[in-house]
Amino acid sequence: MTRTLKIPVGITAVGQAYPERLVTNAELSTMVDTTDEWIRTRTGITERRWVEKGQGASDLGAPALRMALERRGIRAEDLDVIIVATTTPDTIFPATACRIQQKVGATKAWGFDLGAACSGFLFALSAGAGLIASGAATRVAVVGTDIMSSIIDMDDRATCVLFGDGAGAVILEQVEEGFGILDFEHHVDGTGVDFLHMPGGGSRLPATHETVDNKDHVIHQSGQDVFKAAVREMADSSRLMLDRNGFTPADLKLFVPHQANLRIMDAALRRLEIPPERMAVNIDRFANTTAATIPTALFQSLEAGKVAKGDLVVLAAFGAGFTWGAMLIRWNF
Ligand code: UT7
Repeated sequence: MTRTLKIPVGITAVGQAYPERLVTNAELSTMVDTTDEWIRTRTGITERRWVEKGQGASDLGAPALRMALERRGIRAEDLDVIIVATTTPDTIFPATACRIQQKVGATKAWGFDLGAACSGFLFALSAGAGLIASGAATRVAVVGTDIMSSIIDMDDRATCVLFGDGAGAVILEQVEEGFGILDFEHHVDGTGVDFLHMPGGGSRLPATHETVDNKDHVIHQSGQDVFKAAVREMADSSRLMLDRNGFTPADLKLFVPHQANLRIMDAALRRLEIPPERMAVNIDRFANTTAATIPTALFQSLEAGKVAKGDLVVLAAFGAGFTWGAMLIRWNF
């Protein structure tokens, strides 16, 4: 079944923001038992950006959204809704959407946070598009922002080298017939919850001295299980969605996968038989920024002139939960 929106909805502008502090593999290898060579060959990452202490997800999400608004030539007051995909909100409550709303001055907008880890941006796009297609909103901002440096365990070399901080934002609006979001395929499977998670800090295991001592407030990951599932599900959900719309991977101008590991991305690409030059890659410079990988990779592809009006684009994500999916877009500007 295709998820065809009743009104054509598309992305009409994109923005991004990263912190200034650059952390190279060489610098990391002075902090943990790792090497530039291991990180580059096993993950494709050469550097990442980390915030200074005290900065939260809204501090990157707000400038990313401001940039998207400027590029679209609209004011923050023109927004109806702000949806923020994040795994590292400024605080458990209030929602980071409230802080971003206040920072950009979106005085007429309501909003909320959406938690789906690395698939969060994709799921938020579908939620936002649904609000427009139902007639409940005209302009929706979708922000993916994560401060992964706030939850990494510097004693776990297998995870601390993988993540960066960043934010991307898009504006969603009604677009011309035949353009915008053509279809999407989303899934969750809760049997995957223990493979990639942060055990503490929620209602099941609130913060105590013991949870801090046990390192319950940092990322725990079973890397190889996540790796295999990510390749399979990103590729297969993309393929299923293309098939049912009468397209093949050869029809794609750009494949924008979640950037968790270059080996995962390359393997998904091979499974789909898409030529490597059609894949958006920014993991080398920015590492895994969770909800921000897809909008920032999209932003950078647009800047590089890799997408034009009419091109077919597939976004694909996989993350904790497990959550995963794909989205097919006929680019509209
Ligand atoms: O966005 C969320 C989704 N997350 C992902 O998609 C991540 C998926 N998983 C991965 O990307 C990979 O599994 C990792 C990058 C996390 C790990 O790569 P791997 O090739 O699966 O390595 P491994 O865990 O099998 O470890 C191989 C070796 C081990 O040493 P021994 O036991 O063979 O002596 C590790 O201790 O590599 C060692 N190792 C490291 N060595 C140097 C692990 N991390 C490092 C490191 N530096 N940073």
